[in-house]
Order: sequence, then C-alpha cells, then structure tokens
Amino acid sequence: MTTDTTSLNDPHPVGDAGSPDHQYSGRSATYSPEDNNLGRKSMRDIGERGEREPVADGRDVSTALAGVRALLTDAAAHYRIALHSCPDAVEYLQYRGIGDAVAARFGLGYARPTWRDLGDVFRRHGDDAVSSSGLVISTGKGEQVQHYDRFRSRLIFPIRTCEGDIAGFGGRILDGGEPPKYINSPEGAGFKKRELLYGLYEAQSAIQAENMALVVEGYLDVLTLAQAGFGPVVATLGTACSATQISHLLTMTHRVVFCFDGDAAGRRAAARALETILPYATDMNSIAFVFLPTDHDPDSFVRSLGVELLRTEIAAALPLNAFLLQRITDGAELRYAEGRALCVARARPLWLAMPDGQARDYLLRYCAGLLKFDIEDVRGMWLK
Ligand code: UTP
Ligand code: MN
Repeated sequence: MTTDTTSLNDPHPVGDAGSPDHQYSGRSATYSPEDNNLGRKSMRDIGERGEREPVADGRDVSTALAGVRALLTDAAAHYRIALHSCPDAVEYLQYRGIGDAVAARFGLGYARPTWRDLGDVFRRHGDDAVSSSGLVISTGKGEQVQHYDRFRSRLIFPIRTCEGDIAGFGGRILDGGEPPKYINSPEGAGFKKRELLYGLYEAQSAIQAENMALVVEGYLDVLTLAQAGFGPVVATLGTACSATQISHLLTMTHRVVFCFDGDAAGRRAAARALETILPYATDMNSIAFVFLPTDHDPDSFVRSLGVELLRTEIAAALPLNAFLLQRITDGAELRYAEGRALCVARARPLWLAMPDGQARDYLLRYCAGLLKFDIEDVRGMWLK
C-alpha cells in the first residue's frame, strides 16, 4: 500500500501563520525560496482559500469545492495510513480476501475509534470547508458547539469522481461493530450519490478493454471482483441506479450489465432499474441483467463459485427486451383476454418511455400479437 505522508506528519506545512494569506503579507511578488513549498502546501492552501470565498451569490463554487476535495484527499491519506496500524482492519480485509494491491488501488483506509482523529488533518474544525466535507459532525450551538468525526471504527472506501478526485467516503463496520453496517458521506454539492459510481475511476481502463461495464450493489462486490481479476465493475452507492449513472456509463461503453441477487429484493431492484434504463434502450446500446442464485451477491458468488462462472453468467445475461417481456407478463394469465389486456396495459408506459428502435418495435409487435390487433391500431391506442 502507498504511504503518502505528505500532509500528515507535518500539521502546519504552510508555516505557522494561522492563514495562508499571511504568507504573502509584506512580500514582493518576486521569487522567494519559500515558493519551493508551493506544490506541497497547495492542497491545504486551496482548502483554506475555498472557505474564504464570499458565500453570497458571487461565490466561486468550484474553488469552494476544490477546498473540500483537498481536505478529503488529506483525510483519505490519513485513513490509508491508519489502516496499517489497525491489525483488526487489516485482518478483516484478509478475511474478505482483499489483497494489498487492490486495497492500495482503491485507496482503502481505516477510521480509528476515536472521536477527533481527524484533528490533525483539520486545523479548525469550525471551517466551512470542514463542515462541507461531511467528515465532521457538529452538535450544539455557539460556545457549546462540539465537533467529532463522522467515520469512526470503520473500514473506509474513498469514492472518487471519474477524474480521480475524492468526492466522499463509504465506511463499513468491522465484524461486531455498531450498526448501521455502512455509512456514507452526507449528500451535498460535491457528493451526490446518484451521480457517482463506486469504482468507476479505477474501472475505466478495464471498461474500455472489455468493452462492457458490470453494475453491482455493494462496495465489497467491486473489490472482490477486482481481486479476482474482473475489472470493469462499478457499484451504486446504496441507491437504485439513476439516469445520470446509466447515461454516464453508456458514454464509456455500449454494453452495460446489471447484476442483482436472485431473490425477491433483487428482482424488485431490477424492476426499478429497468424503468430508469428504458429511455437508453437504443439499438446501439446492449443492456442486460444477471440474476444470481438466491443468497448470493457477486462477492459471495465469485468466492464460492469462481470468477469464470460469473463471466459465463454475464455472457448469458438476460437482454433488456427479454426482461421487459418477463415483467409485463409476470403473473398474467395469457390464456384469457383479461390477462392479455393486463400485459398490454403494463406495456404502454414502458413503451412510451423507450426511444425508437428495435426493442420498442418488438414490444409493440408482441402486444399487438397478444391482442390479435393490427400493430398500427395498438400504436394509435398507446399514443392517445
Ligand atoms: P449489502 O447490505 O448488500 O452489503 O449492501 P454488501 O455490499 O453485501 O456488504 P458486505 O458484503 O456485507 O460487506 C449493499 C450496499 O448498500 C449500501 C452500501 O452501499 C452497500 O455496499 N448500504 C448497505 C448502506 O448504504 N447502508 C447499510 O447499512 C447497508
Ligand atoms: Mn456482500
């Protein structure tokens, strides 16, 4: 694992002045040997500059965001280093089968059990940039205000933007830890769960190479698959897949496969995903679904049955069209006119959500066939 200690062992890398502005007071704009520190001090500098932007309408959001991201980067380094000093966390990763290389690639870390472990990372807990970072929880008001770390006693999963900036963190308890099992950074300007995908930054080149992306539900699923040599995998952040997420993936590859548990909850999640995905079901895109056996998630499937079997499942994934027909015919008695009418009624909103193309035409033809109606009559009926 990497041991980037740059901003950690030196709590005041910009000098002892309380604010970076002091660096420039009384100095001419000419070169000074101190400028050699620029690369080193820039992270924290940006962080503090970010908070100094006017908060009114004129606020430079990107500068504020850069400040928050710089803090998150410092915190990630802190967590990474802490992982080495916590045998329980290292042991837990070993138990989950995650090796050092994968842990380093994904920047995994550990948040110690203490309340203010990040005190070294943040000089002033009350700063705007610190509160916007979501790393600190504040209670009380005025003089009574208290700040403490959001992530404590948790394995840390940095969640990166596709450019590689850290947008937030997920944190998992170790066995026996206090629930909930996972917590995430709070939703905010720089951390929108429905716009980010866990592992996307790390998966980019594998998505290009394999010309496909697999979408799973859990962070550990991503890690286990990466560990098993299957790289093009990303996870949603505890929410259903959103239009933003799917459209982003489809700019990177035209084949997206969703992997759900085989149980009722997995089916429900797939049905929800289907509705979001339908507008993207063009002829160019190949979208498909894998349903794992009940009681398996991708992590447990690969660990007990092997990654090759997962590859086989992916190759044989249920195409969107077939899943669509399963959905509309589910539980309907096609022998009876009522059952067939039910299917057609279910199909209409889905058809309306679809872009022109073969999948849409197929659904129309299928429903016309069920009703023994002319295709154009059904089209007219649906468009009314
Ligand atoms: P799961 O409960 O299926 O866990 O949550 P998992 O991914 O299999 O995790 P392991 O294998 O027990 O470690 C799937 C995803 O749902 C979100 C997380 O993003 C998690 O990866 N989640 C889950 C939460 O946000 N909070 C929770 O308490 C649980
Ligand atoms: Mn799991």
